[in-house]
Amino acid sequence: MLVQQSSQLKEEIMRLKKEKDVVILAHNYQIPDVQDVADFTGDSLGLSRQAATVPQKTILFCGVNFMAETAAIISPEKKVLIPDLEAGCSLSDSITLDELKNWKMQHPEAIAVGYVNTTAEIKSELDYCCTSSNAVNVVNTIPKDKEILFLPDMFLGSYVAKMTGRKNIHIWAGECHVHAGITPEDVIKKLDSMNDTELVIHPECGCTTPFMYDVADGSYDEKKVSILSTEGMLKHVSKSKSKNFVVATETGILYKMRKDNPDKTFVAASEKAECQYMKMITLEKVYDALINEKHIVTVPKEIADKARLAINRMLAIS
Ligand code: 13P
Ligand code: SF4
Repeated sequence: MLVQQSSQLKEEIMRLKKEKDVVILAHNYQIPDVQDVADFTGDSLGLSRQAATVPQKTILFCGVNFMAETAAIISPEKKVLIPDLEAGCSLSDSITLDELKNWKMQHPEAIAVGYVNTTAEIKSELDYCCTSSNAVNVVNTIPKDKEILFLPDMFLGSYVAKMTGRKNIHIWAGECHVHAGITPEDVIKKLDSMNDTELVIHPECGCTTPFMYDVADGSYDEKKVSILSTEGMLKHVSKSKSKNFVVATETGILYKMRKDNPDKTFVAASEKAECQYMKMITLEKVYDALINEKHIVTVPKEIADKARLAINRMLAIS
């Protein structure tokens, strides 16, 4: 899109959201143009908190389906819109309702802890929901002798098991294709190409598990390697005195890192780490969603009522 066209569209979106009293929430992986028109950008936990508290009656969610569904569950009195219904998530697709019910049947005493990257149906079968920023703390609130089923991300699950020291966690073998595709070789190549570099890693990055284990064991200088949610990464790089960072997560986050820290250098661990679902949300679709009030995200009441219990537990733990 031409710069002039895009700035006209942005102006029109800003005018429309005011006129229609709509709040735009955008995930940190959204394209720069979409982040520019958002009222709030953030990680899954931060955006869920915004969805619960914003005064507007309509939320336009620029992210993927499970995020918009979570907003609709938290705020049933609000209208939640998503610009493209096809914006899915390979991680949330990695467990079905039947699979979860079967798994629970095999471990009838276990507590089910699920990542926010799950469908509303799956959430309705969970005891606790968590995000990458509070997964360790959520698991730490569960009595040590209780068996845990952790789903669906195996890398976040093994990180949580390592950090909490629990041996009684069963972990579902799901993964996000974007984060799992970032290899240790990618990371090492980038680290070797720069001096005095910090590494920030999202815990969904399976192939960086060796780094996570080294950090958890204390083998790395903690200041040099940090495992964080996307919002945690943004806060960390702004606070850090380091000037160079290798960033192991979806590349959309680099836009805000660079904007907030013009004097620092940020390099993607892998330029290929792009989520095609997140990138489905374009400025044109945001405009269309505002004009035509689409697409409305609904969750059946009986599913939403059950799922809300697990989500509220997630929101209560930082
Ligand atoms: P954050 O909650 O860290 O933003 O990550 C969620 C995610 O992976 C969305 O794709
Ligand atoms: Fe899902 Fe991975 Fe895309 Fe996040 S980056 S929305 S976990 S597919």
